[in-house]
Amino acid sequence: MDIAGRPSQEIYDVVGIGFGPSNMSLAIALEEHEASSPQHPLKCHFFERQPTFGWHRNMLLPSTTMQISFLKDLATFRNPTSRFSFISYLHAADRLVQFVNNQDFFPTRQEFHQYLEWAAAGLRDRVTYGAEVTSIRPAGEAGSGTSDILEIEVRGGDGTTSVVSARNVVISTGLVPRLPEGVTSDERVWHSSEFLSRFHAQAPGDLKSVAVVGAGQSAAEITRFLYDSLPHAQVTAVIPSYGYSVADDTPFANQVFDPSAVDEYYFGTERARDSFWRYHRNTNYSVVDADVIRALYQRSYDEQVRGSQRLHFRNLTRVDEVERVGSGARVVVRSVLDDRTEELALDALVFATGYDGLDPARLLGDFDRHFLRDAAGRHRVERDYRLVPASGLTAGVYLQGGTEHTHGLSSALLSNIAVRSGEIADSIVLRRTERELGSGRPVQAARSAA
Ligand code: FDA
Ligand code: NAP
Repeated sequence: MDIAGRPSQEIYDVVGIGFGPSNMSLAIALEEHEASSPQHPLKCHFFERQPTFGWHRNMLLPSTTMQISFLKDLATFRNPTSRFSFISYLHAADRLVQFVNNQDFFPTRQEFHQYLEWAAAGLRDRVTYGAEVTSIRPAGEAGSGTSDILEIEVRGGDGTTSVVSARNVVISTGLVPRLPEGVTSDERVWHSSEFLSRFHAQAPGDLKSVAVVGAGQSAAEITRFLYDSLPHAQVTAVIPSYGYSVADDTPFANQVFDPSAVDEYYFGTERARDSFWRYHRNTNYSVVDADVIRALYQRSYDEQVRGSQRLHFRNLTRVDEVERVGSGARVVVRSVLDDRTEELALDALVFATGYDGLDPARLLGDFDRHFLRDAAGRHRVERDYRLVPASGLTAGVYLQGGTEHTHGLSSALLSNIAVRSGEIADSIVLRRTERELGSGRPVQAARSAA
């Protein structure tokens, strides 16, 4: 038996790496394909390194809301009748009526997390938790780039390693936390992605002076949370801009996340792609939802009315140096206004400095040289999200994430996952059909995953 409990010689049609929303959505698309084409099932399995399902658990702060409509769930845009839709979840939770009465398109992150947990429970037999994929390589001769089978090395929770084989892998390992160069996180210097577990490991009374670096959604949410949770602490926001800028989620701008925008980006000119970023980066990066901006300003204004201040904003300011001193941190910040520096003595410092995109090279290792890159050194990716192989590799390496340069702004977000997963499932089915036609074996009609 292999690590997924299947016969060890089994060759999967698809192995999914990571079981966040993107690959959950793919698991659903594959399941629905199977239901519509039961005589021709696809053997698939997913590996997730977390011990149980979790979606950015360390940022499940009270009252934070989703940045997409509930209808941009795991399935609806591909298949509105899916049993895995957010509406099905509400129905199962006996809250559909109340949800509608609440008249809000944007559920809390807590509620969306519950939805994802409910969907993950429905897909339980397709995933192994506590299983980290450590490498992907072609089967057969070492260094060979011409294989139709891939070997995927998986480390289990007990540290043992096993290898599974597949004709396709779908890498969906998510964003990678980014700290400024030279900074490492520890029990008092945190990245936002580890926020709640680090925060809860402290006695609240020990946090008398804290600071948050960054002016994105994570930074603003954490600043508000710290201010509300630590009523006696000094809270400093170190902001690189003049003030928080609002995330543009107005209807025309929001069209950049439409499924059709992927084609326009993918097949567009270099100038068109530049325009997407130049005009619409502010739909997602280094921006904050208006309600959080207003909530922070209100707290600051209330302090002025009361005549006491413990919420401080250092705008146009960046961090120069971080040094651990005793149980806290000494931080030197530099104002861009006048180049003056200031030292802050802190009990905790949170870097909400964003994320890097998924980079498949981390898992591909030496195998990565068998995939083509563009003139800027970025991976070339087919419209169906498959890495372009340099040689006669027929096995497929697909990406969910890490394709902003080819497929546009929705690549790292939830907006398009239902449609994207359907496209990947369709591509895998189509390539299997072509392979079977090529081998002269009888072929069942390829069906759309929808
Ligand atoms: P995600 O990161 O969710 O999942 C990847 C999974 O792969 C993880 O579970 C990880 O443990 C696993 N993994 C990693 N390496 C592995 C390995 N080697 N082997 C096995 N498993 C591995 N977007 C949006 O559209 N609307 C929103 O409201 C939000 N909200 C939001 C909040 C916060 C706090 C953040 C940081 C980000 C968002 N996002 C977002 C953007 C975010 O990228 C998106 O919500 C999804 O997490 C993307 O889903 P994925 O499955 O691609 O990645
Ligand atoms: P982000 O949008 O990339 O913002 C990072 C911030 O850190 C920017 O203001 C950036 O400034 C700043 N920064 C980076 N390096 C710095 C440095 N060395 N010194 C000072 N400042 C620095 O990251 P994020 O806020 O974590 O958001 C990431 C994604 O998660 C987004 O898609 C966001 O919408 C999502 N998110 C969603 C929710 C939610 O759904 N409620 C919550 C949190 C996050 P520059 O602009 O100068 O680089």
